[in-house]
Amino acid sequence: MKIVVIQGPNLNMLGMREQNIYGPMKLEDIHAQMRDVAEQNNTEIEFFQSNLEGEIVDRLQECLGDADGIIINPAAYTHTSIAIRDAISAIQIPTVEVHLSNIHQREEFRHKSLTAPVCAGQILGFGPFGYHLAMISILQITNEIKAMKEAQQAQQAQAALQAN
Ligand code: DQA
Repeated sequence: MKIVVIQGPNLNMLGMREQNIYGPMKLEDIHAQMRDVAEQNNTEIEFFQSNLEGEIVDRLQECLGDADGIIINPAAYTHTSIAIRDAISAIQIPTVEVHLSNIHQREEFRHKSLTAPVCAGQILGFGPFGYHLAMISILQITNEIKAMKEAQQAQQAQAALQAN
């Protein structure tokens, strides 16, 4: 099982950027906590941060055939990027969107997410704890899919046995 975590523009500045909104925690500390949860669940995890839209699209495409689940905070691209939305939609890998802040309490231009409609769900407003909730959510979703596939395979094997 593999989860890929994708962080959008300016999230590399967490810890020093607008602490009143995003808090004091650095991105690497958030990732360290996620790595612990992944280890406890025997799950591989990879982290990627970029300030460039095209690099985020490329990283999403690279998840095809590689990742079982994606956690993404597209940051400002949430509100503008049809390209990132289309990439999430194209790869059909369960994706959870995270925002540290409650975007609905902020400027109007942040209220709309172009990416959320193609994600399994969205977690927002809980600060870094949101990434922990996203980990639990994506583990739950990927485990459910795995169990469903195993049940289907068992059913097919059973049907093949009966046909012989
Ligand atoms: C953010 C919210 C976005 O509106 C903003 O552009 C960010 C961070 C969040 O995590 O709260 O960069 O995605």
